Amino acid sequence: MARIAIIGGTGLYDPRILDNVREERVVTPYGEVEYKVGEYAGKAVAFIPRHGSKHSIPPHLINYRANIWAMKKIGVQSIIATTAVGSLKREMAPGHFVLTDQFIDFTKNRVSTFYEGGDRGVVHVDVTEPYCPALRAVLNAAAAENGIPCHNFGTYVCTEGPRFETPAEIKAYALLGGDIVGMTNVPEVTLAREAEMCYATVSMVTNFAAGISTQPLTHGEVLDAMRTNVENFKKLVMAAIAG
Ligand code: HPA
Repeated sequence: MARIAIIGGTGLYDPRILDNVREERVVTPYGEVEYKVGEYAGKAVAFIPRHGSKHSIPPHLINYRANIWAMKKIGVQSIIATTAVGSLKREMAPGHFVLTDQFIDFTKNRVSTFYEGGDRGVVHVDVTEPYCPALRAVLNAAAAENGIPCHNFGTYVCTEGPRFETPAEIKAYALLGGDIVGMTNVPEVTLAREAEMCYATVSMVTNFAAGISTQPLTHGEVLDAMRTNVENFKKLVMAAIAG
């Protein structure tokens, strides 16, 4: 039974890092979820590509509830989520990794809870510490051991997308205390908390955010940066799993 899952973001679609990979599916109240399970360092690891295996699901249409419910149902206790992000800070440069410890939620149209009243009731989950500190510590140690540039703290601003931000928005997010910006971490992190799972995010900076970068942003630029650094991404995640 897989106790650990990877939810792979942009650029990490394929669990080639795992051995004996098999495809499985599980039914949830929110729809069926296809995932893969393989082995690494003697551990069973589940894998879901967040955007689908061919990057066909945009951030605002990801079935976050189904993905987290599915992982809970198959017995996963810890989730390592990967995300591509833009940076609001000069010191968080493209190719660097950030172990997010806080988020600011600017999403608009997403269902963000398992608890919608009725039989499930009304629940207000505590998010003082939204990301699992124990798993973040393991990831931080793995980065240090492997010489991977990694920031142990960072506030993730989650936008609705799928468009990138205006420079004015980025300026505002920086004033509010944001360090990095992406489109997928909320509600994934809060659903994992509602499901009482240990969840950590490894964000990889693919670009300086709009207005900090002097060039217009493209998804191609994000993918290029991800391709250049994906080996570090895999090294970091797998070292943490082997940990
Ligand atoms: N903004 C939002 N999401 C992103 C970015 C960005 O600059 N880069 C990668 N994902």
